[in-house]
Parts: sequence; structure tokens; C-alpha cells
Amino acid sequence: MSRESVTVLGLGQMGSALAAAFLAAGHPTTVWNRTPAKADDLVADGARRAGTVADAVAASELVVVCVLDYGVVRELLEPLAGGLAGRTLVNVTSGSPEQAREMARWAAGQGARYLDGGIMTTPPGVGDTASMFLYSGSTEALEAHRATLAVLGDPIDLGEDPGIASLYDAGLLGMMWSVFGGWLHATALVGADGVAAGAFAPVALRWLSTVGLFVERYAGQIDAGRYPGDDATIDVQLATVDHLLHAGALRGVDGRLPELHRELMAKAVADGHGGDSYARLIEAFRPTR
Ligand SMILES: NC(=O)c1ccc[n+]([C@@H]2O[C@H](COP(=O)([O-])OP(=O)(O)OC[C@H]3O[C@@H](n4cnc5c(N)ncnc54)[C@H](OP(=O)(O)O)[C@@H]3O)[C@@H](O)[C@H]2O)c1
Repeated sequence: MSRESVTVLGLGQMGSALAAAFLAAGHPTTVWNRTPAKADDLVADGARRAGTVADAVAASELVVVCVLDYGVVRELLEPLAGGLAGRTLVNVTSGSPEQAREMARWAAGQGARYLDGGIMTTPPGVGDTASMFLYSGSTEALEAHRATLAVLGDPIDLGEDPGIASLYDAGLLGMMWSVFGGWLHATALVGADGVAAGAFAPVALRWLSTVGLFVERYAGQIDAGRYPGDDATIDVQLATVDHLLHAGALRGVDGRLPELHRELMAKAVADGHGGDSYARLIEAFRPTR
């Protein structure tokens, strides 16, 4: 069966991984990069090098762009004057939801279908079906090209609003930094008493999967707007965070992260919600009306 042609614009670390995955799956792949030498390995593996952005776009109905930012995307595509008409533009460059929506309007004006993407992995994870690729925008385009895009990772359809994939991406990265921060803090704490990071890691990983179970349970509480403290109350957790702060202070471990958690819990208790579950703290993050 012949595979769909695809064009990749931008061959930095991520764009090169995307093009390599398309090639490995047998897709005729046309590539373009500002610095042409970055295409050499891909060309050696069978990619076609385009001399200009216009030639690259003309080569395939499906055009994937992965460059530094949305300003560069516009810089590359605006001079094409109609060259995108009838094509599908998949923009996996990182940006804000507002930039994605603006890009979708611009692409519609060019007569192109537009999908905005968030890549939830690093280059070595491209091509692994466990990696999530978030898409929003033209769901029709996603369905038309699903099999090709699935070569990169699991395509997650987030619907017609082109800004939503970027919004998920930003939120998920924030979540990642919070998890990294909590894990690094805990690793520093146990490390102060001589525990190696590698010895702590398996226990930390099992704990992450237990914490994951609460995400599912608490999401239901948040959507229902009711936070029954029938597992562990904020009162109990406020008392417990003091043990963490105390142990950290004695060992000279930076306490800013647990201090923030303590502050949020103490506010909820002061507001009369000490008997609720931890999910009540969503109120601390929500926009004030
Ligand atoms: N790396 C990751 O793990 C990862 C994960 C998720 C999302 N992303 C996103 O993927 C995008 C690319 O990241 P990357 O890691 O591939 O970055 P990178 O290795 O620094 O590559 C940047 C790319 O943008 C091109 N570029 C920059 N300015 C340009 C300009 N003025 N005109 C034309 N091309 C220009 C570069 O071309 P030259 O080669 O000529 O410099 C290169 O192809 C970013 O939006 C990033 O946030 C990356």
C-alpha cells in the first residue's frame, strides 16, 4: 500500500525526529530547513530536500511545521501567496492558545485546513505509540490524516477549538514541573540522611501511581463542586505538612515548595473547609470573579 506524502518544515531537534519517523514508516518525506545541512542525514535516509519553503509545501497535501515559535511559522508561510490552498497545515510549534487561534484564522484565509499540535515528549519519544500528540482544530483534517500522524505517537483529538491543544500543553508542562519539583524536594530530603536518588526512585514511582488514582477521584469531585473529606481531610494534611517542614528545616532543605502547600491548606481551613478533601484547593487556583 502506498503511503501518503508528507512535508516537514523545520529540522531542529524535534522536526528532525518527526521527519525521521515519517521516513521510517515509509512515507515519502520532503524536508526544508533554514540551515540546509541539517537535512543531510534525512536525505541520506531517503528524504527529498526542497530548496525553498514554496517547493516543500507544493510537494505534499500534508504539511507539518515545527520551528522555534509562531513568529517564524508566519515568516515562512506568509510569502507563499496561495500556496497552502487545499492543503492541511499541522503546526506542532509551541505557542499560546491565542497564537494558535490566530494562526487558524490566517490558515482558513489561505484556504488551508489547520490543526494545532502539542508534542508531549522529547525527540527520542517520537515514534513511540505511548507518546501523546495533542491536536485541536480541524477534526476533519485529523481524521483524514490520522494514520500518517499516528506514526509520530498517539494522536489525541481535543476538538475543534484550535487553541485547546496549546492550553493543555501549557497546563501539562506546569503539572510536570510541579511533579519534578516535589520529587526533587523529596529526593533532597531523604538524600540529607544518605539515601541515594536511585534508591528512592522506585518508591517515588510507586507513590506517583497511587497519587494518580486520586486525580481520577478528585476530578469527579471538582466537576460536581462537592469535596467530601471521606478519605483524608485538609485538617489532617495541614497537620502532616508540618512534619515535612520540620524535617526539612532540621536538615537545611529548602522549604519553599511545602510552604506554598501549607499556605494553601491553611487558607482553606481558615475559610471553614478543613473537613473537605484536598480537591477543595482547586478554589485557590481558579480565577477570582
Ligand atoms: N525538543 C523538544 O523536546 C520539544 C518538545 C515539544 C515541543 N517542542 C517544540 O518544537 C519546536 C522546535 O523545537 P526544537 O527542539 O526542534 O528546537 P531547535 O532544535 O532549536 O530547532 C528550531 C528550529 O526552528 C528553526 N528556526 C528558528 N528560527 C528561524 C527563522 N528565523 N527562520 C527559519 N527557521 C528558524 C531552526 O532552523 P535552523 O536549523 O536553521 O536554526 C530549527 O529548524 C519548538 O516550538 C519547541 O517548543 C520541542
